[in-house]
Amino acid sequence: MRVLLGIGGGIAAYKAAELVRLLRGDGHEVCCCPTRHATAFVAPLTLEVLSGRPLLTEAYLEPGTGGREEHIDAAAWTEVLCVAPATADLLARLSLGIAGDVLTTTALAVAGPWIVAPAMHGRMWAQPQVQEHVERLRTRGVRIVGPEYGALASGESGWGRMAEPTKIVAEITAALRPGPLQDRRIVVTAGPTYEPIDPVRFLGNRSSGRMGFAIAAEAAGRGAAVTLIAGPVALPTPGGVRRLDVETAAEMRQATLAAAADADAVVMAAAVADFRPAAVAPVKIKKGEAPPAPLALARNPDILTELATAAPGALRVGFAAETGDLAREALAKLERKGCDLIVANDVSAEGIGFASPDNEVTIFRRRGEPLFLSRRPKEEIARTLLDLVTQELAERGPSPAAGR
Ligand code: C5P
Repeated sequence: MRVLLGIGGGIAAYKAAELVRLLRGDGHEVCCCPTRHATAFVAPLTLEVLSGRPLLTEAYLEPGTGGREEHIDAAAWTEVLCVAPATADLLARLSLGIAGDVLTTTALAVAGPWIVAPAMHGRMWAQPQVQEHVERLRTRGVRIVGPEYGALASGESGWGRMAEPTKIVAEITAALRPGPLQDRRIVVTAGPTYEPIDPVRFLGNRSSGRMGFAIAAEAAGRGAAVTLIAGPVALPTPGGVRRLDVETAAEMRQATLAAAADADAVVMAAAVADFRPAAVAPVKIKKGEAPPAPLALARNPDILTELATAAPGALRVGFAAETGDLAREALAKLERKGCDLIVANDVSAEGIGFASPDNEVTIFRRRGEPLFLSRRPKEEIARTLLDLVTQELAERGPSPAAGR
């Protein structure tokens, strides 16, 4: 494959040399395009020798090209664009389409996927304006790799280290492989919801979010554009996934209904709280002498049931955690919630379910026999579930979103 490697002007630019070496080792052709500042960190000659090609540089502005537009030629040559490291300045310009140099001008004309590996000081990375640019790129389907946590050039530790070159190469390889869910939009919910009692207390549950995150990672790995709506969990965002963090069932409902409108499939793996405190105390409830009045609860809307009317065209997958007659409860839920698949597990069994890395489930579907999956890692359950989703979507025909 032909990779255009844009290199930003940060200290991590020295790792671009290693990136070129790895890509060449995997049989890719690489054209390096360092920004003017990047050449202060990594020598152009190093990049030229490692890539075995002339660099794409600002010299394209000089007369002597015989009238050819070098940035257009370079973009036509490019099958995948990788920008590593992407500085805060480059992220902003790439996200806004500001094309003031050869790299950003060429980027705008690249038809293939973009992989962007940000690297900067942790305090810069944390700035909302930087995050907004990253989010904007991500929603356009750009794969953001890293940054990672660790030692920064300043001697401090923080989020801001560029992802390791091996990880960036893996992302480039994945982007080039058209997956069976290419052109599909998949929404996944994960984790618990927290329903506030007062400013510091909440009603919640022990869902770790692992099952939903594994499903999101698997769907992204198959080429889908994945929106992951996550309750409060302590898990890193899988590569290539757009993540929206929410806290309450009401927030999850709003985010899910909006994202589901043009989705091909919605997988509701979240453990949404069925009830919330009827009123939220505006200030912390004092211990006092006597216990406070019993907590009045109100019912939360059932998001999955609402999806039957809000996203009737989408394949809808529900989860059911049961303690009784698994098959009877799951099939009743399939009907009641109008979904296509139900992933049911017996939460009274030990070593599986909520906080565990493993699960044991039976997948019930509208058509076909139930599928029993004995205890195994959640990643493997996700793989089998996505096999079924991929198969069902293929039977339904092309995505209504295709071609947009
Ligand atoms: O009714 P029960 O909570 O057992 O149903 C579980 C399924 O319904 C899960 O897929 C869960 O994400 C979804 N659900 C929902 N909205 C709720 C409660 C559950 O979408 N308020």
